[in-house]
Amino acid sequence: MQQWKAGQQTLILSEGTNQMQLTNHAENRLPEPAILVFPATHPDGQQYFEIAQEHDDRIVAASSTWDAELSCQMGELLILPYVDEPSFPARFLELVRTRNINRIYSPVAAVYSWLDRFISENKLPIRLVGSSPIKRELVRFDRLMSKVTRSRRFIDECAGGTCDLSDIEIAAVFRMASHIYGESNEHKIAAMMAIFCSAPTGDVIEIGSLVGKSAAVLALLAKRYQTGNVLAIDPWQASAATQHDSPYTVRVGLVAEWDYEMLPQDFAINTLPVGLGSFNYLRQESVTGCALFQKTLSVTNSTFGRVDYQGKIAVMHIDGNHDYAQVKRDCELWLPMMVKGGWLILDDYVWIHGDGPRRVGDTLLEQHARDIERAFVCGKALFIKFN
Ligand SMILES: C[S@@+](CC[C@H](N)C(=O)[O-])C[C@H]1O[C@@H](n2cnc3c(N)ncnc32)[C@H](O)[C@@H]1O
Repeated sequence: MQQWKAGQQTLILSEGTNQMQLTNHAENRLPEPAILVFPATHPDGQQYFEIAQEHDDRIVAASSTWDAELSCQMGELLILPYVDEPSFPARFLELVRTRNINRIYSPVAAVYSWLDRFISENKLPIRLVGSSPIKRELVRFDRLMSKVTRSRRFIDECAGGTCDLSDIEIAAVFRMASHIYGESNEHKIAAMMAIFCSAPTGDVIEIGSLVGKSAAVLALLAKRYQTGNVLAIDPWQASAATQHDSPYTVRVGLVAEWDYEMLPQDFAINTLPVGLGSFNYLRQESVTGCALFQKTLSVTNSTFGRVDYQGKIAVMHIDGNHDYAQVKRDCELWLPMMVKGGWLILDDYVWIHGDGPRRVGDTLLEQHARDIERAFVCGKALFIKFN
């Protein structure tokens, strides 16, 4: 039998039973069972705390280091010794007993492993939430590589042959994109990977970037294939984002939710690591952006420095305002600059909130039938390779 004394209470662990007897000499009433997040100062711990709070779980946050700001945010941050310190078991068990802890979330591998062993050796009625951080990373890697294996044939089909990206490169694109908020799904991203091997050299232009999910993918692929420099154009402005042809929720509701000063900053944070040196942006609408682009063929700003363009487009991604008139105008403005063999990606060709991209796409397919080498629809976008 092991016994720890903590303040006025005694915790007795009886061998051969999985019973944890709690003797409270002062008071026997226990609070509702709670989840201990430890260490709660770890970024994953903070994230778990926020999610558990949203689920209305009873949470106790603890750490071995003090963080005044987090303590304020979390309401309370308790201090426990490091797990290897001799005082840890008693202090931990005191916390378990007084706060009625029945689950623990631990984002640090060494702490998870220590607790796992301690809980099992002492048959404590406490469950560790999820698997160990190391196991989670192994599973995350396996899942990603399985997705690469599953996507390989699909990417080859979109490429119209064998795509020469390695598994690691495909995985890197998927992982990078998964970390960025956005409206480009994985099928579209897979198809984007597929088309670059057959793209000519020239500029890569995107109309409509939001916070840079597709722009980051284009930047990585353009660098990998040495296609050319990338330019993203977005006004990040509520009036431009309003889509008059769409239902109320899309037209007004979503548009009003954004903070239009945060958007370009979030965009730069997401695209800088992959784009620096060969990527820039214009905070402009497609029309004014096009005029500036044609006038100088160069964009300079303090975040990305100076980036020069060729004035001939190899890959064009149109994903701005989806109203029919705007998509039509985007195509009229930019497509004349496309070079032979260039790819157009027309987003939301299949879209439940409006038919602007489809109408424009169908007209292109019809009018340019003789100039089109290949075309397919993937991830709701229309991909066209012009010859
Ligand atoms: C659907 S989001 C783009 C999603 C992004 N491509 C992604 O992968 O997440 C549409 C974007 O188009 C932008 N936009 C709206 N009107 C525009 C215009 N006239 N020119 C350029 N961008 C425009 C909006 O500000 C918004 O950020």
